[in-house]
Amino acid sequence: MFSRSAARAAIDISRSNAPIFLKARGAPATRQRRGTPSSSLPGVRRYISVYGYTQAKALVYSRYGEPKDVLQLHKHSISPPHGSQVTLRLLAAPLNPADVNQIQGVYPSKPPFQTALGTQEPCAVAGNEGAFEVIATGSSVRTVSKGDWVVMKQTGQGTWRTHAQMNETQLIKIENKDGLTPLQISTVSVNPVTAYRMIKDFCEWDWLRSGEEWLIQNGANSGVGRAAIQLAREWGIKTINVVRERKTAEETEALKAELHELGATAVVTEAELLSRDFKDMVNGFTRNGKEPIRLALNCVGGKSATALAKTLAPGSHLVTYGAMSKQPVSLPSGLLIFKNLAFDGFWVSKWGDKHPQLKENTINDVLQLTRAGKFKDIPVEEIKWVWDTDGSSLTAGVQETLSGYRGGKGLLKYEGGD
Ligand SMILES: NC(=O)c1ccc[n+]([C@@H]2O[C@H](COP(=O)([O-])OP(=O)(O)OC[C@H]3O[C@@H](n4cnc5c(N)ncnc54)[C@H](OP(=O)(O)O)[C@@H]3O)[C@@H](O)[C@H]2O)c1
Repeated sequence: MFSRSAARAAIDISRSNAPIFLKARGAPATRQRRGTPSSSLPGVRRYISVYGYTQAKALVYSRYGEPKDVLQLHKHSISPPHGSQVTLRLLAAPLNPADVNQIQGVYPSKPPFQTALGTQEPCAVAGNEGAFEVIATGSSVRTVSKGDWVVMKQTGQGTWRTHAQMNETQLIKIENKDGLTPLQISTVSVNPVTAYRMIKDFCEWDWLRSGEEWLIQNGANSGVGRAAIQLAREWGIKTINVVRERKTAEETEALKAELHELGATAVVTEAELLSRDFKDMVNGFTRNGKEPIRLALNCVGGKSATALAKTLAPGSHLVTYGAMSKQPVSLPSGLLIFKNLAFDGFWVSKWGDKHPQLKENTINDVLQLTRAGKFKDIPVEEIKWVWDTDGSSLTAGVQETLSGYRGGKGLLKYEGGD
């Protein structure tokens, strides 16, 4: 992707006041004044050399393990784009549980380890989701232009990097970014799409009974859970939402209130879900079952999943899409025999690969709701990434991802220059 000689010539032109003479092997010496900022943002350095080489950093791993042990910040150069290539600058990238599982080597999809970035050992760039800005395009690029915002068409491309170079066919352009933020775009393609598809594709809702049918879910305060609450509210589906108790009753009530604010019909704790009284609670919510619970969304597993299944009306579906408790899903045989429940799994990566256009449409639908103020931002803990940010502070943020009871999802926010 880049030649070593040219990479050596690619330097940070903002660092020195004196004119700089650059000479890459085989290239004429060129005069360049310092600090010509590529970005109009004050104080933002430019990392593009006079030959168009972009300086980049990426969080990479060359073996599986805990992020703090295996992730490294690798600096490299990106050559000017040619043909259908597009050079991108990171705006924001979330730290999702699956990203960490991938680094640990316990996730089914494993990006290939490669040497394209010039690392000593073959490596993969971490991260699956993110919003990028187009900063340069090759001569035959037709679908995106400089300044556009894009997301990756597929997962597994490696998004935890300041800059990337992709083929235009790997990108989804955000057609109308007006009124949208990097946070909203960087978190749209995995969790909201997962919630959207599970609700739409696993249940034939009776739209004539709008407001009289329910879904139940655990992990309701997760990114997927929050998306499911808001989409269900939008589509006239009532929701029972299960969350884990917080340290104090006040904190638990605050979390419940937060989800009610998003449109949750009912919010209960895991302890309530597993209690003897839960059947009565459900009868209270659903007018003694006159309003059926037709879909369960499970990202926890274990007893929590079993308890969700027991609330379902005959012929309903329980969709498992995560396993946060690491406990297997076990199901009483009666639910299969006498209630004819269906148990499914959903994986957005696989689904998106099969249905690229539908994925794009789904993203656009969610962004439309976001613009209309009907889809609220997820809470995040921002990890600011500037050019000089050291790798250890980034990996420490990544390590937190699976710790549980967090105030918000980790979000890498790149504020360095082009
Ligand atoms: N299959 C797919 O296509 C797909 C797509 C997206 C996400 N997912 C999966 O969905 C799940 C949620 O992802 P996300 O990005 O939405 O999550 P997130 O926003 O990072 O939130 C994590 C959620 O997991 C809960 N949690 C953490 N540890 C737990 C434990 N030991 N037992 C029970 N709950 C626990 C948290 O509850 P507390 O706040 O109580 O800690 C929180 O609700 C993950 O398993 C992820 O891999 C799957």
